[in-house]
Amino acid sequence: MQLNVLVLPGDGIGPEVTAEAVRVLKHVAARWGHNLRLTEGLLGGVAIHQTGSPFPEETAARALEADATLLGAVGLPEFDSAPPAQRPERGLLGIRKTLGVYANLRPVRAYKALLDSSPLKNDIVDGTDLIIVRELTGGIYYGTPRGISGSGPEERGVNTEVYTRAEIERVARVAFELARRRRKKLTSVDKSNVLETSQLWRRVVSELAAEYPDVTLEHILVDNCAMQLILNPRRFDVLVMPNLFGDILSDEGAVLAGSIGMLPSASIGDRRPSGAWVGLYEPVHGSAPDIAGQGKANPLAAIGSVAAMLEYSFGLTEEAGAVNRAIEAVLESGRVTADLKPRGRPATTVEVGQAVVDAIDSKS
Ligand code: IPM
Ligand code: MN
Repeated sequence: MQLNVLVLPGDGIGPEVTAEAVRVLKHVAARWGHNLRLTEGLLGGVAIHQTGSPFPEETAARALEADATLLGAVGLPEFDSAPPAQRPERGLLGIRKTLGVYANLRPVRAYKALLDSSPLKNDIVDGTDLIIVRELTGGIYYGTPRGISGSGPEERGVNTEVYTRAEIERVARVAFELARRRRKKLTSVDKSNVLETSQLWRRVVSELAAEYPDVTLEHILVDNCAMQLILNPRRFDVLVMPNLFGDILSDEGAVLAGSIGMLPSASIGDRRPSGAWVGLYEPVHGSAPDIAGQGKANPLAAIGSVAAMLEYSFGLTEEAGAVNRAIEAVLESGRVTADLKPRGRPATTVEVGQAVVDAIDSKS
């Protein structure tokens, strides 16, 4: 199969973790006889430094041409006080919107080998296997009017949350379909006791439920959901929620998985005529500039994102399964980075990437 993949390493630890993800992708392509064509592009702080824009047109064009895009992370401390439109993060929002990847899938699994890495008691996290479906191209991240105006005590900051029926419906469909292939339980998260956007959200999701009679739907308020996630995570299967709630709750999910360095994500939009999904694959973690360039970053979220790419954009389930099993084998070996509980000296980013490659060979 021909795999045309755009790589956007981005900022901070982005280049280090994507290098390992690419190592794994190249290995899989060689082993299963796929023809991999990799191109690289600029996004985020590195793009601002080199072109003046966090999302250069060239990058947009390449992303639209590629079958799938693999992203590292964006964000640099020198832009901390820059206005939102001139920040690296705007590049990320730009590419998500340009690709139209409205459903962001963030699976959270408590691997047996990592139970002790979570600050929560083992019997609470053990058996966690859920997936957050975060709406990714709408809501308060994109709504207008937005901005800061005025001065003195009257200086005002404004953001707007907007959701249309169509936006809610399409992401909810992705979640219902996923639930159908899993444990058939869908939890829709909102703040309908306060927000009109959430009232519409709840109504639209409820209406759609009639088309999925095999899936049990429940609604939960976001504050309660934040609590239930760490009280009883096993009660969840698939969760669907607006953009901002998904951003917040998926970081909470990292506590269940043992480390934010473990969480991959897949952002998908509509299917292309070929049947493949337009996809953007990125770790949930940020650019962690404090540890960048030191070989300390955990590449497993980026590598897990490659597995998601193989599955969703290319339909290569055997290859995706091999990568996921290799990740598990590496976790069991204890040759992991310092954010987990290494057996002996913490492994470096490169050592973990190489270990995944070796495990693919010995396990498949
Ligand atoms: C994420 C990140 C981004 C987001 C930032 C970097 C813009 O936190 O992917 O979760 O808020 O979506
Ligand atoms: Mn986030």
